[in-house]
Amino acid sequence: MQHAHAGLENPEYYVPGLPVDYVASRYGIPQSEIAKLGSAENPHGTSPLAKTAVEACLNDLHLYPSWTADPLREKIASTYGFQAEEVICGAGETEILSLITRAFCPPGDKIQMPGPCFPIYHLFAEAEGRTPVLVHSATNPETMALEVDTYINAIDEDTRVVYVTNPHSPSGTWLTEAEVRRIIEASPNALVVLDEAYVHYSDTEGYIHLASEYQNLAVLRTFSKAFGLAGLRIGFGVASKQIINALLAVKPTWNMGQLQIAGGIAALDDHAHVERTVQTIIENRDYVQNRFGELDRFRMVEGSRSNFFLIEILDPDTDSTKVFEGLLERGVIVKDGSVSFRGLQDRFLRSDVNLKPHMDRLIDALADLP
Ligand SMILES: Cc1ncc(COP(=O)(O)O)c(C=O)c1O
Repeated sequence: MQHAHAGLENPEYYVPGLPVDYVASRYGIPQSEIAKLGSAENPHGTSPLAKTAVEACLNDLHLYPSWTADPLREKIASTYGFQAEEVICGAGETEILSLITRAFCPPGDKIQMPGPCFPIYHLFAEAEGRTPVLVHSATNPETMALEVDTYINAIDEDTRVVYVTNPHSPSGTWLTEAEVRRIIEASPNALVVLDEAYVHYSDTEGYIHLASEYQNLAVLRTFSKAFGLAGLRIGFGVASKQIINALLAVKPTWNMGQLQIAGGIAALDDHAHVERTVQTIIENRDYVQNRFGELDRFRMVEGSRSNFFLIEILDPDTDSTKVFEGLLERGVIVKDGSVSFRGLQDRFLRSDVNLKPHMDRLIDALADLP
């Protein structure tokens, strides 16, 4: 029998948010009554323009797509002020994260990330024999925000990739442009990867423009969130041509199908869908924050600029797994911090911001827990 390399002897896999049908059948709750708040999906669904564009290309599926997804690359480039050669497209940001791990960090060297963070960063690093460095000391235990000086001090000579997530996951906290610049400028030997998956919900343009200024920066974005296309799998990165050329060389050749290319192009013009989504999230983030005032055993960690937030458990007699299970029984799916985010331990859960009835269900279920 052949064995995979040592890093793959006991691999750890990504733990996704639970699906509605699983919770419905396990707890006997009608699907329509379940609040799905564990996967940060779009409360208003698929971008209508993308749906129409995908339908229109169903007759062309016998044709190979452009292996670099050129029509989408060009659209992304013109939308954000880049050249097509400065863009790479992937099956979600997730695929681009795997390319970065392979292209920019030799085996054994370090990939730095805040602790806790999006688990894919460290799971891919470990699976590929790279060394993930989670800088837990840089997370302020009260605000859960990243302390930039501590984060910068952790960067070593053999750190090859430095992740910055803005807004951050799981906290939703936000870094200023000056703070992001400081991290980039403190990393001359590393590629800084600025993950802007949730940037729309910050109600800013984000910092994608920095990719034309710095040679050691890649900015990543996704169509899974504000565009409502998580099931189609489209993400992209912008960086210098040299960086993109290296990523293209390790990319599985035809990684983007016709449907992804057509859907992505149309979604970029679906301003109405994005605006409606962003408005809902911002409004309901305030709404749920107010409703948290009714609870004394739980605190919403404030300052989220994203479509999720952390819930801190103030009651010493319970923990995140008990609360997670209690919420499931009441038809509310969130993320158990101790399972979903390395280093977060058992005092936190992460919940999405979604439609008001779902927010009410969350608060009412938390209030109802024994
Ligand atoms: C911080 C962060 N980055 C990237 C992604 C990946 O998104 P996708 O692969 O769907 O583009 C996610 C998904 O949840 C995320 O939370």
